[in-house]
Amino acid sequence: KKYIMKIQYLGHASLAIEANGKHIVVDPFITPNELAKNIDFKSLKADYIVITHAHQDHVYDVEELAKRTGALIISNAEIASYYSERGLKAHGMNTGGKFSFDFGSIQSTIAFHSSSFADGTYGGDPNGYIIESEGKRVYIAGDTALTYEMKLIPDTIGQLDLAILPIGDNFTMGAKSASIAAEYVQATKVLGYHYDTFPPIKIDKAEAKSIFFSRHIQLILLEIGEDLTV
Ligand code: NI
Ligand code: MN
Repeated sequence: KKYIMKIQYLGHASLAIEANGKHIVVDPFITPNELAKNIDFKSLKADYIVITHAHQDHVYDVEELAKRTGALIISNAEIASYYSERGLKAHGMNTGGKFSFDFGSIQSTIAFHSSSFADGTYGGDPNGYIIESEGKRVYIAGDTALTYEMKLIPDTIGQLDLAILPIGDNFTMGAKSASIAAEYVQATKVLGYHYDTFPPIKIDKAEAKSIFFSRHIQLILLEIGEDLTV
């Protein structure tokens, strides 16, 4: 085995992570995303579904995926109870907490954003997550502004092998703020996400890459369906 974690980009802020033989889907928003029409949602594997916050563009496909696969939903306490009330398996966490699962561990981080379901139900505080598996560490920022709290990550949690940061602007950080976030978390390799899906978050990819490059950080932008390994 040449890698510990394989991360496939499913479009928008959706990821399929394979870690230690387990399948973790993050923020599934695939079926409504015209750009992700080549992703075969019906055969997507999931042992776990990690949700950063309750907005539609992060939870749209959660119920169908959880019902078909029996996956355990991992999210904040409010989102976890929202889904357990609907008969799905869920594990609630809260900001700053870490818990071990059979693939490794997940730690919930601070994200500055909002979080409510489409029906208006309160979705708790938004979060990012740090996934660790066999000594590799990946930070998924979720929808967030640039925050000074990001500086705590390398000091208190440790060096990252990859940071996954939103770069689409308007709803989250844009490329410039995200490149500063990458410095705060001391990441030299960044996977950009949460861009191009909707008109307000369309970006110039070459410009985004050059913004990161000027800080000596590699910005990776995957095609939808493409993957990388750490
Ligand atoms: Ni959001
Ligand atoms: Mn979003």
